[in-house]
Amino acid sequence: MKQTMIDLTENYVFDQLNSDASGHDWFHIDRVRKLALHIAKEEKRGNAFIIEMAALLHDIPDDKLNDVVEAGWDKLNGWMQDLKLDDASKKAILAIIRTISYSSGQRDLPSIEAEIVQDADRLDAMGAIGIARTFAFGGKMGQPMYDPGLPVRENMTKLEYRNGKSSSVHHFHEKLLRLEELLNTSTAKTIARERHEYMVGYLKEFYKEWDVRL
Ligand code: ADP
Ligand code: NI
Repeated sequence: MKQTMIDLTENYVFDQLNSDASGHDWFHIDRVRKLALHIAKEEKRGNAFIIEMAALLHDIPDDKLNDVVEAGWDKLNGWMQDLKLDDASKKAILAIIRTISYSSGQRDLPSIEAEIVQDADRLDAMGAIGIARTFAFGGKMGQPMYDPGLPVRENMTKLEYRNGKSSSVHHFHEKLLRLEELLNTSTAKTIARERHEYMVGYLKEFYKEWDVRL
């Protein structure tokens, strides 16, 4: 029964995000699901069904992927209704998805399942994949790859984070390099170390080539 729900959800999410070109495609979702289940297994904590469902559905109501935010939440609620998911599971999954995003700025998470799915989503924002996703997203938004004249923004409201003038390289300083310290579980922190160092090395090389230091 639970496996059927997961399989159906997998097909649904695949159809919804298959053609995304902003780094929030189906393969991102699949990696987050795998990372989250791996973390749960290592930590020996969390309800695997809730974790897998929340990981699969976490970007369905994302404000970046829906012109109208409410429409995204309606889609998510509608899907869980169609599945005839029980109320407790629905509530747990909604609470996770509502709280885990970086842009929500929320620090206190409602459950260990939320901590694990957030860690998985954040790990996929780091390392080689994280770099690729950032330039893909920046290109899709039409923002410059890098603009040395722009300041690095420290404290931003959600609106400023989303709409302020920035560049993809700025996004490393404004978010990606901060993620390692914000992770919840020690399993994720261990995985993050290599990904963080990789980004630091990448930026060093980027600035070297940008400045034509030979
Ligand atoms: P969350 O889904 O946790 O709220 P975001 O929506 O901020 O996180 O970002 C998800 C991914 O989209 C980031 O990891 C990054 O790759 C990309 N992204 C978001 N905002 C920007 C930006 N301003 N410039 C470049 N990439 C961005
Ligand atoms: Ni995501």
